[in-house]
Amino acid sequence: MPINTAVLKKVCEAFGPSGHECQVREVILEDLKGCYDDYQVDVLGNLIVHKKGDGPKIMLAGHMDEIGFIVTYIEDEGFIRFSNIGGFDPFMLVSRRVIFANGVQGVIRSERLENFRTELSQSKLYIDIGAPNKEHVEKLVKVGDVAVYSASFYADEYKVMTPALDDRVGCFIMMETLKQLKNPKFDCYFVFTTQEEVGLRGAKTSVYTVDPDYGLAFDVTGAFDTPKALKYSMKMGGGACIKIKDASVICHKAMIDFLTKVAVDNNIKYQYEILDMGGTDTGAIHVHKSGVISGCISVSSRYIHGDAEMCAQSDIEDCINLTVKALETGI
Ligand code: CO
Ligand code: ZN
Repeated sequence: MPINTAVLKKVCEAFGPSGHECQVREVILEDLKGCYDDYQVDVLGNLIVHKKGDGPKIMLAGHMDEIGFIVTYIEDEGFIRFSNIGGFDPFMLVSRRVIFANGVQGVIRSERLENFRTELSQSKLYIDIGAPNKEHVEKLVKVGDVAVYSASFYADEYKVMTPALDDRVGCFIMMETLKQLKNPKFDCYFVFTTQEEVGLRGAKTSVYTVDPDYGLAFDVTGAFDTPKALKYSMKMGGGACIKIKDASVICHKAMIDFLTKVAVDNNIKYQYEILDMGGTDTGAIHVHKSGVISGCISVSSRYIHGDAEMCAQSDIEDCINLTVKALETGI
């Protein structure tokens, strides 16, 4: 079944840098109407959606927040200095358009540098919204305001390409799973988390609330199939990624084996994910209390944290199928 790109578009286009996830939460709740038993929102803004099932408690987690920018200082001439929310490569930022919560757009540019290659750093960058001076800028944008990339969503028969695929695609996989799920063999808590990009903070509080027996996160991982990429095996179009490790977690063998068996038994295309960098909500979930048997299903994506994050529609579909089957099979 092809994926519903209209829903994915809606979720990706919601404004939601870390700490400002409420628009994303509203889009998700609206779309899931009638599909769950109950829900709650905790102090940090995590959306915890409960779908009752017969079996052990599982927490599924995908983060609603996206990387962004926060205004730190406005110069007399009207140029906006900013800090990052989440991890950025300064080279990736130059000439990118950004949009603030109120819809004002600007462009990130660099000061003139003698040697761009060696001197470029975040502190040399500024956002230009084209207003003539500080006084005029402040009518539109203030210190503490946040922005995200403003590029648009695009989908064709192979791929989707948009900012915020990290991790709205994870949220989308959970949403579509919840809609398709019949007779789950787990008591399912679908947690749409906050503040992952700044240190898995929403996952830390929500895992305390849910107190699960099992944990399964959904996120993007790298695709290392581009020219001269590092030697990792994940490929765009290579199927659902079953995570073995990243920098935040070594996944539990019981979860890896379970997901692998479900994929094999149901002819779902999968690949293993091993990564030395990065992290995801599983990193917080698996160390809860005396430990939670946890894993992660990832979508192998190109150009993560840029404004043209790209992944294959077939991989998203494989991830949904794997998750539905896993929940309906039981561990
Ligand atoms: Co990220
Ligand atoms: Zn992510």
